[in-house]
Amino acid sequence: MNLDLNLNKILIIDFGSQFTQLIVRRVRELGVYSELVSHKKIKSSQIKSNTKGIILSGGPLNVYQLNNNLFDNTILKLNIPILGICFGHQILSKFNGGKVKQSRHREFGLANIYKKNDSLLTKNFFNKKEKKVWMSHADQVYKLPKKFKVIGSSTNSKYAIVENIEKKFFGVQFHPEVTHTENGKTIISNFIFNICKIKKNWSSKDQKEKLIKEVKKQIGNNKVICALSGGVDSSVVAQLLNKAIGKKLYCIFVNTGLLRKNEENQVVKTFKKRLKINLIYINAEKEFLKKLKNVSDPEKKRKIIGNLFIKIFERYAKKIKNVKFLAQGTLYPDLIESRSVTGSQTSKIKSHHNVGGLPKRMNLKLIEPLKFLFKDEVRKLGLELNLNKEIISRHPFPGPGLAIRMPGIITSEKIKILKEADHYFIKALKDHDLYNKIWQAYAALLPVKTVGVMGDNRTYEYLCLLRAITSEDGMTADFFEFKKSFSQMISNKIVNSIRGINRVVYDITSKPPSTIELE
Ligand code: XMP
Repeated sequence: MNLDLNLNKILIIDFGSQFTQLIVRRVRELGVYSELVSHKKIKSSQIKSNTKGIILSGGPLNVYQLNNNLFDNTILKLNIPILGICFGHQILSKFNGGKVKQSRHREFGLANIYKKNDSLLTKNFFNKKEKKVWMSHADQVYKLPKKFKVIGSSTNSKYAIVENIEKKFFGVQFHPEVTHTENGKTIISNFIFNICKIKKNWSSKDQKEKLIKEVKKQIGNNKVICALSGGVDSSVVAQLLNKAIGKKLYCIFVNTGLLRKNEENQVVKTFKKRLKINLIYINAEKEFLKKLKNVSDPEKKRKIIGNLFIKIFERYAKKIKNVKFLAQGTLYPDLIESRSVTGSQTSKIKSHHNVGGLPKRMNLKLIEPLKFLFKDEVRKLGLELNLNKEIISRHPFPGPGLAIRMPGIITSEKIKILKEADHYFIKALKDHDLYNKIWQAYAALLPVKTVGVMGDNRTYEYLCLLRAITSEDGMTADFFEFKKSFSQMISNKIVNSIRGINRVVYDITSKPPSTIELE
């Protein structure tokens, strides 16, 4: 099921640079819709008149490897303005008669760049004599094609910024999309507004209205079900559909008993009471606990929880007659296939969103209204849709919940202790203004007991592990450094307030080699 946004756009052709997604985001941040396509898949015949400009990304290839299977170079003849970045810049030179070769001095990191000529692309960019830009290349253009002019040079790259004004081709050897490049956004802004002459068409308000209209059209008079987890993505999907189709939406929220403290109450309060969403609340705590009895293997835990979740969801979904769609919170990065130049699928579909084989089994069509959006765009859309900040800025929470933060067997006593510890930790982060500086934080309960002393008594209780990390996307992570006073306060609070814990440790491993969750 495709949402055809049919907007004027800037098309980003991905050649495998690690920064490609940043280009898409920068264009969108400037208020213009942009889409990402793989260099292997896009053909010039597919590029329609609503593509107002093209950006060729960087990438690890050598331009002389680009045969017809890897890139349809007739795209360069469409008479659409093109900005080539790094490898993209080398492509523009090569296909216009210039020459590229391995540079004697590879440039990685910051470089100074100097103005040589005026250009529309660099308007307001050179506001001082030299400019710091981020370079990351081994090859470089050494012979410029005819009718190309040098706009800027660095010590090692004579042709660091070039243009062919007739063809509206622009090339930059550095990366304007990364924040290390001073004023890099000006280059992108000049390209899209002054050269491509595209108008702003992308704000959370625009998205809200367009998405509601599209979703209404798609769904018609049919019914939709949605698995609500209380996380950001499923909450935004639910509220968007609520605004679009009201009571034809049925949200199912399964309380697995493995949620954070009071989470089920908050979900019911927000969605049923405040937003008046059709919410079916299922308390399946006992069922989950029974199935998980004496299971300690992490993969078994995950499978049991995943399968039972689907079974319960299906049980209730079947009671709603004539449902045609299942709504999911799939995001744009989940769909982008070619983050690597091999075109391999790098993103993993989140297990909680992807409600197993359900759509096929129940003969449902999928509806994924957020599939064009990045996470930060989803957050803004959520605010536009009147969701509260607390939901929007929530840390990610895994589908299997507290089960994978409790190595070893799961008991209701352990769940109770862990919910308390996690609650105190998260509350302290919020009270000390740290919550939004941290990408994800949680408490875990380790299956070991250690000796302690409280008053005159010896204690023998569980070990609580705290984890707090900073990250961009959860693929890599680093531990957050707390001040001693905070660490002291939270360890005292947990040990003194919770019966069952007498020692607190802090996880100081990054990902890799560790993962964010314990199991
Ligand atoms: P790891 O532990 O793999 O976690 O470093 C990376 C991110 O993914 C989340 N995570 C999950 N999310 N279902 C989910 O929806 C899952 O089964 C699952 N396992 C891990 C984790 O919380 C972190 O944000």
